[in-house]
Amino acid sequence: MQTLTNKRILLGITGGIAAYKAAELVRRFQDQGAEVQVVMTKGATEFITPLTLQALSNHPVHLDLLNTETESAMGHIELARWADLIIVAPATADFIARMALGRGDDLLTTLCLAAECRIAIAPAMNQAMWAKQATQENCQHLLDRNISIFGPEEGLQACGETGVGRLLDIDEIVIEAASLFSSNLLTGVKVLITAGPTREAIDPVRYISNHSSGKQGFALAQAALEAGAIVTLVSGPTNLDPPDRATLVPIISATQMYDAVMAEVADTDIFIGVAAVADYRPAKVQTQKIKKNPAASNKSMTLDLVENPDIIAAVANSEKRPFTVGFAAETDHLIEYARKKLEQKNLDVIVANNVADTAIGFNSDNNQTTVLWENHVEELPMMSKSNISIRIIELISERFNLASQ
Ligand code: C5P
Repeated sequence: MQTLTNKRILLGITGGIAAYKAAELVRRFQDQGAEVQVVMTKGATEFITPLTLQALSNHPVHLDLLNTETESAMGHIELARWADLIIVAPATADFIARMALGRGDDLLTTLCLAAECRIAIAPAMNQAMWAKQATQENCQHLLDRNISIFGPEEGLQACGETGVGRLLDIDEIVIEAASLFSSNLLTGVKVLITAGPTREAIDPVRYISNHSSGKQGFALAQAALEAGAIVTLVSGPTNLDPPDRATLVPIISATQMYDAVMAEVADTDIFIGVAAVADYRPAKVQTQKIKKNPAASNKSMTLDLVENPDIIAAVANSEKRPFTVGFAAETDHLIEYARKKLEQKNLDVIVANNVADTAIGFNSDNNQTTVLWENHVEELPMMSKSNISIRIIELISERFNLASQ
């Protein structure tokens, strides 16, 4: 089974008798390696206590939309952005109706409106309520909006009736949730990704580097794996655990990254250069630690730098050229500079982001990017690096499949 390792799941619980089963669902998601936060409607709190869900999820349970204290701790927009998946289980007929109308009259409906991630519901209600045309039409609206519906299943109901309306078996919900993260967009496609910073040694103790955390490159590797790709990740030093099924090639300097990439490139279908490669390195690495020179009259020292190879340009111009995707981190003239790089480096696609904005880019968990190719510009809204990676991989696979036809 596809696992939910490192996925952030926002579990919405609404007011039906099956709400007690949500406690078990939290545990099963955690068994799969997911982090779970819980949102409860007022009705849900009549069936199961927030304290139970708080103890199980290890997070405060989110209850109110208009509460200044909780909003300042983690506001509803932030919470929506945090999630890789929102799943509402159980989802009552009333909640489904409000969601179908696009209402935002409580925290859970508002989160569903604000979210850019996948959303799923697991309905649970009396069989007659489920069978009603109104409920069926509401569910159809949700399906039309790409919201997944898990169950319900048939069986004996709490009200004593038998029919379709029982919450889908908890283990089945977990399997269906996990399957939302796997697509066959890149099945068997070989993807090579560079990530993180490079370090350019000055002497045995000092180096030149940058603020890249590697988060965006690692998230793209994960998204490519979930799309069925065979992924090699060439990464500079980061504090991150590499995705389970990726082949990690750790490197330190730009020249090491260049060598590692060029060794793989002929056997690569898609290359994605996310690494923040140092443009220059010291011309000579000193073998001894450089000492301060108190006698220097101008109190300065000069470091001679030489240019590093442009890895992505070398890939894009190699003989057996893979489909090549670059990133452009800019502080100004975002689109103009990104388009120039697309052309100058001979790329197929470029993903531009504004690193002057501290809410996104380097080290942040969120990113807001614009994807450019040929004459197209597609702006993506601000999302977590994990959700943005899923979108970018979808766009890349579309372009890649067109290019390989
Ligand atoms: O020119 P600039 O560094 O802004 O270009 C960014 C893109 O080029 C990124 O995709 C980055 O990974 C790649 N790059 C590279 N080798 C370099 C410099 C940048 O592959 N030496």
